[in-house]
Amino acid sequence: MQQVNLGMIGGGTVGSGVFHALQLNGGLLASRIGVEVRVRKVAVKAFDEPRPYEIPKSSMTTDWQAVVSDPQVDVIAELAGGTAIARTMVLAALKLGKPVVTANKALLSACGEELFAAAREHGTNLYYEASVCGGIPIIKSLREGFVGNRITRLYGIVNGTCNYILTRMKLEGADFEAVLKDAQAQGYAEAEPSLDVDGHDAMHKIGILASLAHGFWVNPKDIYVEGIRSVTQTDIQFANQLGYTIKLLGIIKRDEGQGTKAGARRSSPARVQVSVYPTLVPNGHVLASVNHVFNAVFVRGDIVGDTLFYGRGAGKDATASAVLSDLADAALDLKFGTKHRVPPFVQHERDGAVVPIGDVVSRYFVRLNVMDKPGVLAKISAIFGEAAIGISSVIQPEGHQGATVPLILMLHDAPNGAVTRALKKISGLAVVKGAPVMIRVENFA
Ligand code: HSE
Repeated sequence: MQQVNLGMIGGGTVGSGVFHALQLNGGLLASRIGVEVRVRKVAVKAFDEPRPYEIPKSSMTTDWQAVVSDPQVDVIAELAGGTAIARTMVLAALKLGKPVVTANKALLSACGEELFAAAREHGTNLYYEASVCGGIPIIKSLREGFVGNRITRLYGIVNGTCNYILTRMKLEGADFEAVLKDAQAQGYAEAEPSLDVDGHDAMHKIGILASLAHGFWVNPKDIYVEGIRSVTQTDIQFANQLGYTIKLLGIIKRDEGQGTKAGARRSSPARVQVSVYPTLVPNGHVLASVNHVFNAVFVRGDIVGDTLFYGRGAGKDATASAVLSDLADAALDLKFGTKHRVPPFVQHERDGAVVPIGDVVSRYFVRLNVMDKPGVLAKISAIFGEAAIGISSVIQPEGHQGATVPLILMLHDAPNGAVTRALKKISGLAVVKGAPVMIRVENFA
């Protein structure tokens, strides 16, 4: 049987997961694809770094350059993480014409275009299934399964840490800080949680998915991001009363007006909303039931209709599953000499653009803290009325003690910019105390 020699960089959680998965299922993989993937060497930071699965000392080295340049190594798996050094490692391998498999979303988000160009220039390929949603095969699905579809909508719960925290906040009635602390103690959240809870990890993933789906490389700076630190128990409860669950959603929406007429679709450049923010999801929608650390991606194609992907988005085994799938592709491409059978990224929408958040239209949940006296609602609704923003429902719960009461408004579809400006005026009213809370509502139309 033909053999492909793998050089791995990274022997931590993901690296040792891949090593273990190949030990477990390498034979199965070989019998399915007709090529054996054999680990030649694993470059590690330190021989004794903590790792969930053991790697024999004889398989390890601390010299990543020696692994990349080893003439016996046919394919590199970059599982080290980080961006600066990882970029150097990946470029070094690509320059030698060696295919690279990576799980590194932050690297792709920051340097994707450069790395894809290097792969093209050096006649090799870059595979990145493991970079988005761990074990969910969403990259392959978008790139290959839906190759004949225009992707009109993609909604993703793509950060397990945030989903875990929001799920527990809802189920236990606990506050963000308390749940975060406990999640950290149990190993469900990082000691330095900002990459996850401030939405940046989700941004990396959503940017990669948006680029693939719409054929222009999305600059992370153009992605509007809000994390979950400001989601309160009060808002979770009011949202629930109204029939909604708050989820951190990545949203990729092709502009309305594109996608109805075939001719218009061909000629008009893609205008796409690409954002990450806490969202009210109707309790009846399937994404409202995706709980704890699970990820889910809902994709609507103009031909296929609605589809749903669900699974573990992180962890040693789920991520290893995605890396093995990329290794199989790389091994098959090496076997048949088909290096660009599936290019990593094809720019097929040169004039595509991300719609600025101010122009994005959505519905809204607004919570204000107001004085409980006559005329307050009239003042607030007048400001929304002047801005042509419709109110679809109002709740002011009875039985609140004190000078102020919560006032919850659900707003009809309106541009984000108009709502932000109206809320600024409203927060300037003497009868409104504290900063207004605004959370977008998704109806999945
Ligand atoms: N930290 C991420 C999550 C997994 O919580 O989903 C890696 O991207």
